[in-house]
Amino acid sequence: MKFQLMLAPMEGVTDGPFRTLCHQKGADLTFTEVARVANLARLKKGELERIGISGATPTQIQLAGAKLSEYEKFLAAFEAESGFQGFNLNLGCSSPEFVRQGIGAMMVKRVSRVNDIVNLIQKSGSECSIKLRLGMNDYEKGKGAYLNLIEAVDASFFIVHARTARQTLDDPADFSVYSKCVDLGKSIVANGDIRTRKQVKELRAQGLSGAMVGRAAIGNPEIFQKLR
Ligand SMILES: Cc1cc2nc3c(=O)[nH]c(=O)nc-3n(C[C@H](O)[C@H](O)[C@H](O)COP(=O)(O)O)c2cc1C
Repeated sequence: MKFQLMLAPMEGVTDGPFRTLCHQKGADLTFTEVARVANLARLKKGELERIGISGATPTQIQLAGAKLSEYEKFLAAFEAESGFQGFNLNLGCSSPEFVRQGIGAMMVKRVSRVNDIVNLIQKSGSECSIKLRLGMNDYEKGKGAYLNLIEAVDASFFIVHARTARQTLDDPADFSVYSKCVDLGKSIVANGDIRTRKQVKELRAQGLSGAMVGRAAIGNPEIFQKLR
């Protein structure tokens, strides 16, 4: 996979116009705000609006959910718009609601279910990538929860947000985890605290397939020009 700069999915931030602006400034790929498959399967209007792609901006639609029947129902009715580049599974959100329902970051351990979802999406004819945290906490990170998932699942690429679910965005991302991920022979995209050209250059040299930028792009889409 050619090295790509990506705009991170951010609820309340990365709507269609913002994604297009970031693409014009140099983001190769963008992502919608997370949408719940449970709501999409029930055709909830607000949720369907979240996954709308206006124009040809390269976009992956981010989905969260664990029930195969809901994915089946949603995919059967889904029609791709021009910028659509596939789906991305959210294995990173750690909000109490997601944790309670066993979705988001809780799914890093649910390897077999994630595999089933990825296979289902691929069979429907779309590409599927994954965005994951390192595990729920330091214990799971130490046990290599993220590595197990990356090794076992055949997604098109894996965006590794280098924090555990228990950590806040104020805790520093752990850049040391990426080399272990790259060693598994899969396409890995780094995420967390990326904001300089030097960082991007180093990640590229380490064999990563991309760098995803979140907060550093808020109010600052020009960052993608600077990172090129
Ligand atoms: C306001 C806000 C909303 C977010 N919404 C989502 C989301 O919908 N889906 C997701 O996977 N991550 C979401 N994230 C996490 C980001 O995609 C990213 O992983 C995180 O901010 C770390 O990258 P950064 O250090 O470059 O900001 C959100 C982050 C922020 C700050």
